[in-house]
Amino acid sequence: MSLNPSPARGAQRDDERAALARHFAEVRAHTLALAAPLSAEDQCVQSMADASPTKWHLAHTSWFFEAVVLAAHAPGYRAFDSRWSHLFNSYYESLGPRHPRPQRGLLTRPGLAEVHRYRAHVDAGIEEFIATATEAAWCGAAPLLELGLHHEQQHQELVLTDILHALSCNPLLPAYRAAEPQPLRLATSPRSGWLAGPDGAVDIGHDGEGFAFDNETPRHRVWLQPYRIADRLVTCGEFADFIEDGGYRTASLWLSDGWAAVQAQGWQAPAYWIAPGDPRAPAGHWQVYGLDGVRPLDRAAPASHLSLYEAAAYGEWAGARLPTEAEWEAAAGLPGLRDLHGQVWQWTRSSYDPYPGYRPWAGSVGEYNGKFMVGQVVLRGSSVATPAGHARSSYRNFFPPATRWQFSGLRLARDGA
Ligand SMILES: [Fe+2]
Repeated sequence: MSLNPSPARGAQRDDERAALARHFAEVRAHTLALAAPLSAEDQCVQSMADASPTKWHLAHTSWFFEAVVLAAHAPGYRAFDSRWSHLFNSYYESLGPRHPRPQRGLLTRPGLAEVHRYRAHVDAGIEEFIATATEAAWCGAAPLLELGLHHEQQHQELVLTDILHALSCNPLLPAYRAAEPQPLRLATSPRSGWLAGPDGAVDIGHDGEGFAFDNETPRHRVWLQPYRIADRLVTCGEFADFIEDGGYRTASLWLSDGWAAVQAQGWQAPAYWIAPGDPRAPAGHWQVYGLDGVRPLDRAAPASHLSLYEAAAYGEWAGARLPTEAEWEAAAGLPGLRDLHGQVWQWTRSSYDPYPGYRPWAGSVGEYNGKFMVGQVVLRGSSVATPAGHARSSYRNFFPPATRWQFSGLRLARDGA
């Protein structure tokens, strides 16, 4: 995304406004559709500091449009309730004080109905702005409006991963919704092979066409040693073999921090796996809890809800390793490479760092990505929870290495041609 748009002719601008208005309506409606199966009680709960209540996501995504687009660019706009910025600002130091993240679940007020009215108020403000903004105001705000849509899509994935964690804390293990339509089912082909990735001088990063976050830029050259990359994801069956082989009891397979996490957290399987004999869902075999409730472990489905530590230990056990993010992106166009998108995010062995020459966007949105570039690890691809139209081969997702509540899995790589 360029935040310094070049002037264009009026007809093109009209098309752009109509297209953004349609996209805005679609994205906003999809967020509400994701929340629709949930009760008001479901939508207020916060199960851990990393996760947020659905109601907070509904409000925060609206706050983003209000604070970044309307307050800054729409002179006639009146905030729904100016005090709410304190509640629904996530991490923008430049946009004022914030309620502590671990205490978002304590915000029983405003209630869900009020938050829905807030969304409608912001929707009306954006729609009016699109229809009436001067050319100068539109030039300044259109890229931020587009950013707000991609921001809301990121939160759509979090709505699902956060409610999955919250519902998993209930001993009855309720389903988010009973019959999950595609694409929220994992499936991959069990046949596997290795593909030679492009080596030598390779360009990675966003190429300038269409939207991208600032962290995907600038496109730049890297040097890759010869490597091979698995043509598919690691499956639950393969990960079950790792467990069966004592993977969680073998310190030599683990990074030091990972082994410490295994000990401290008592990890014996990926998050949401249910061991045989677990009283919450009695069965004689492994089961997996997901958005559609408890199901028998599907050995052909991609392993998911892994920390980086578990992914790396599995790679060690399998005589392979995780790809770097540059290897992953360089290989993304290879014929025969399957399940790049739409199944699970794939941990890489790359720290989340700025690309050479990286500059954050100007203004408040400069806080969007750049200030998080330490202590986190890049994941590539996209997941079953990623909304349609939000995936790119240059996309850099990132989480701390112990994170397990996302749809995170792995594909293997190995050295040599
Ligand atoms: Fe956000």
